Order: sequence, then C-alpha cells, then structure tokens
Amino acid sequence: MSALSQAKVAALAGGGGTFWLPAQRSTFAAHTDAAFYLIFWICVFFFVLIVVLALWMLFKYRRRGDVIEVQPSAHHNMMLELTWSVIPLIIMLVIFVMGFRGYMDLHTAPQGAYEVQVTAQKWAWSFTYPNGYEDPDLHVPVGVPVKLTMTSRDVIHSLYVPAFRTKQDVVPGRYTVEWFQAPVAGEYPIFCAEYCGTKHSQMQATVFVQPQAEFDAWLAKAGDYMKGLAPADAGALVYKKKGCVQCHSIDGTRVVGPSFKGSFGTRRTFADGTSGVMDENYIRESVLTPRAKVVAGFDPVMPTFQGRLKEPEIAALIAYLKSLGPAAPEPTTGRP
Ligand code: CUA
Repeated sequence: MSALSQAKVAALAGGGGTFWLPAQRSTFAAHTDAAFYLIFWICVFFFVLIVVLALWMLFKYRRRGDVIEVQPSAHHNMMLELTWSVIPLIIMLVIFVMGFRGYMDLHTAPQGAYEVQVTAQKWAWSFTYPNGYEDPDLHVPVGVPVKLTMTSRDVIHSLYVPAFRTKQDVVPGRYTVEWFQAPVAGEYPIFCAEYCGTKHSQMQATVFVQPQAEFDAWLAKAGDYMKGLAPADAGALVYKKKGCVQCHSIDGTRVVGPSFKGSFGTRRTFADGTSGVMDENYIRESVLTPRAKVVAGFDPVMPTFQGRLKEPEIAALIAYLKSLGPAAPEPTTGRP
C-alpha cells in the first residue's frame, strides 16, 4: 500500500472515541474498526436470534400433563440446508476479504517510510532514531508513514498502540516490522500486549505525534541531551531514559533490583557468598556485565547495557548514584 495523500490524511483527522474503542488516530484505524463492528453486530444479531428462539421453544414445547406426543420430524429439506450453508459462507467470505485487506495494509510499510528501531526488554521500550539517539518514548512527525523495525533482548513482547489499531509481537533473535501513519498531532499510549513477567503491565511508553518542524527540533536537541548538564543531572536523565528506573528505585523501595538510595559506597553481599564495595568500578561492571556480581536476594535478570550506554553516560550515572545520599553509616562496634 502506498502512503495516503495529505488531503486524505487530513480528512481522516476527525472522529472521537466510542464506548468500545479509542479515537481513530491512524490511517487504517477506520478500516480495522469497520471489520470489528461488522463482526460485533453479526454476533449480536445471532445471539439475540438464538436466545429468543430458544426461549420461545422452551415455552411452546413445554411438558403438558403426562402425555408425551412424538411428532414426526422431516429428515431432509434441500432448501433449508442450502440456505444455512450458503448464508454463513457468504458472511465468512465478506469477513475474510475485509480482514485480509486490512492485514495486508497493516503489514506492508510504504516505501520511504521514516524508520525507527525498537528494542524491547524487561520492562521498557527503547526507540532509536536515524541519528543514533535512543529514547524511552516514540516521537514521530505528523502525517508521515513511520516504520518500526523491532527486536527484543530477552522474551517476547508486543508493541501495541490502541489509538493506531496496530499491534505486533517483538521477538528475540529476529526482526518484526510494524508501521503507521498518524494524521493527528497528540500523545497516545503504547502498551506491551504480550505477558512478559512481573512488570508487564507497566511496560508502557507514549507516542508523541508532532508537527514536522517541532519533531526535527526535538530530535536535534534530544540527541545532545547531556550537553551543558552537571554530571549528576545528566545521570538522572540516563537513569530515566535508559530504563534503569524500571527496576531500581531511588526511594529505597525494593523493585526488581536493589534500590539506588544511599547505596554508593556500601558493602554488598553477592549471590555466590562473596562481597564487595559498591564503587565506581562495581557500577560500571554491573552495567556492562550485570550477572558478574549479583546482589544476594535478587534474581540475575538485568540485561547488559554493553553498546547501549556510552562511557560518558556511565560516568554520569555513577555521579547520579553518588548524589542519592551518602551510604548509611557502618554499625559502630561500641568503641569511642
Ligand atoms: Cu513486555 Cu509484556
């Protein structure tokens, strides 16, 4: 399918949500909804028909007295049998043709679409733009076809944007593709639609559909996000943007991994019984090879950030961890 003309895109801009479905915010949303409602109303029609007939027959053929009359029943009726075979066949073919056309639209990205790489991991999305910048949210220009090439670092996830009516599994070890064209600027939620563990339901992000100029300005600025910031402030951004926030709290709450609050400089006991101090080198090692020294009591589930965090980003992260309060004082031995 080719990209729609700007006029068609603008025409699609109207339309709010319904009780069943959110507002249509992609070019193929209307077609998807039409297929949904067709099947929905067919189901409603037959549900009502069958229930009404069943209740009516329940009443009509109820037992009256002790006499049980056995009525002769017709064993063959050509017209009746043809009717109940041909009508469902026609309904089924209409649903098939409609569904297949929609499927082909959903799975065939137009030539020249703007490409964004998507990486899923427990439990965060990351979107890599053509300039190499990586963001936890998806920003796209309005009215432009966008193609997502997606893969996973661990288990199967699924990128789902209800407003766009598009959903595609994201699988480790291969690439899957999803595309859309959003005619209306706005913010729409992204969900993970494949159960992927403890924080599956919180594996969310946002699509920001922005006017082209605004998008270009955002990307240029975002690509240089650490510029001019103090290391600890830059580290706070790394913590949020690179998904650390999903598993490490900064308020002492135990999530998937140890909290970062007041952790710098503390002695940690590892799963293998050894111990070590959480210093600069420990943090760097844990970012690059997370399973080398896993803190006792936690599962070795952290993925490596090798190739995903540059050295300045790791340095900034270390500065940020240092800023999260000094380590709790060692228990005193009672001596002055
Ligand atoms: Cu990722 Cu569910």
